Amino acid sequence: MAKKVSAILIGAGQRGAQVYGEYALSHPKDIAFIAVAEPDDARRAEFCLQHGILTQNAEHDWHALLERPKFADCVFVCTQDNQHILPAIAALEKGYHVVLEKPVSRDSEELKRLLETARRTKRLVTVCHVLRYTPFFSKIREILDSGVIGSVQSIQQIENVAYWHQAHSYVRGNWRRADESSPMILAKCCHDMDILLWMTDSHCTKVSSFGSLGHFRVESAPEGAPEFCLDGCPHAESCPYDAERIYLRDKGVHVPVIRKVVSLENTDDSVREALRSGPYGRCVYHCDNDVVDHQVVNLEFENGVTASFTMCAFTWEGSRTVKIMGALGQITGDVEENEIQVVSFATGNKTVYRLNTDAAGHSGGDAGFMRDVVRQMQTDGAYAGRTNIAQSTESHLIALAAEESRVTGKTIWMTRQ
Ligand SMILES: NC(=O)c1ccc[n+]([C@@H]2O[C@H](COP(=O)([O-])OP(=O)(O)OC[C@H]3O[C@@H](n4cnc5c(N)ncnc54)[C@H](O)[C@@H]3O)[C@@H](O)[C@H]2O)c1
Repeated sequence: MAKKVSAILIGAGQRGAQVYGEYALSHPKDIAFIAVAEPDDARRAEFCLQHGILTQNAEHDWHALLERPKFADCVFVCTQDNQHILPAIAALEKGYHVVLEKPVSRDSEELKRLLETARRTKRLVTVCHVLRYTPFFSKIREILDSGVIGSVQSIQQIENVAYWHQAHSYVRGNWRRADESSPMILAKCCHDMDILLWMTDSHCTKVSSFGSLGHFRVESAPEGAPEFCLDGCPHAESCPYDAERIYLRDKGVHVPVIRKVVSLENTDDSVREALRSGPYGRCVYHCDNDVVDHQVVNLEFENGVTASFTMCAFTWEGSRTVKIMGALGQITGDVEENEIQVVSFATGNKTVYRLNTDAAGHSGGDAGFMRDVVRQMQTDGAYAGRTNIAQSTESHLIALAAEESRVTGKTIWMTRQ
């Protein structure tokens, strides 16, 4: 029988507790969290209760757990964007394999330091690039490997963020400011850079990018819009970003995940109370956000493949769409629709794949990722997984190069790590 994996969680927030923690609860034979570090008392207490964690294994801060001799197979680092590198390096130095939330870091020197530490300690760092594990991208990789569209020449990928998701995460929420988290192209789109590396099966040589914060600024505020939506905004009925609309009236559409972020209790009363003066109740035109709401990136790869990537807030659907153009045919698809079409130029035959649409959590990527992590840990890293820290470092460096290009207007040449 395969070994049961023991894990330590650092950061019992939305990802740590509600995605990886939930997976452990529903797969008790495969993995168990035996310790947690979390400064928020309510979150720590809830996680300990759910996972039966002993008091001596529950700490306010990660240092207290990682100072101890190694006592589990791996450490999940699920803190906020700029709190990843230090616990990840400390865990590697203690001999743990690390499962690390993206983005790894917004600092290229830190990225290289982590890569060097992983190579020296011979431990795995598996970055949560969950898209690689979706049935959708797994199928596309399989189609590319079959050779049916010949050699890939060009890729077009669009990240349709969705208007409400931009408002929640990148205008009102945790990822609204580049100095507190990271630039949008890193925070949201390092996944896309990772997928482009995987699809092209190559290394990126050149990057250029354009984009700006076009809409979510004070100049766009309709006349008389108050600081908080619940303060009698005269535009509440017509504004798609009205907080009451998103969190209370439309609750069937976007809950439960984003409502739990507003209020852990997640009742209508507790959400309404949090919206009165909390960050998620702010008018989207009166926030302190600065990350872009639309950006394009052009990339060239060592094997000559070109790619164009668009990230845009202003979409109804929240999905990624992709078109892969090969010498002998093309692939088109939509991740949320879970549908892929392949056309052969020689025959004109069209094959349509409709994948399992039941899968929740990044279109099945979260669960696929956890299955892969369990396998990696059960073999103590002998099975290295579908991705590795060298590839994740490259995808992050591409995103940083795109941001540099957007800001400076220059084309950035990449160097291999
Ligand atoms: N892989 C993906 O697709 C994906 C999707 C969404 C978010 N993320 C990333 O996951 C990370 C976590 O996001 P989230 O939404 O769960 O955030 P969150 O704020 O809900 O959770 C982070 C938790 O870390 C805790 N924390 C802070 N300091 C700590 C310390 N010193 N020791 C231990 N814990 C500490 C916080 O109290 C909080 O509960 C972010 O970097 C985010 O960008 C990844």
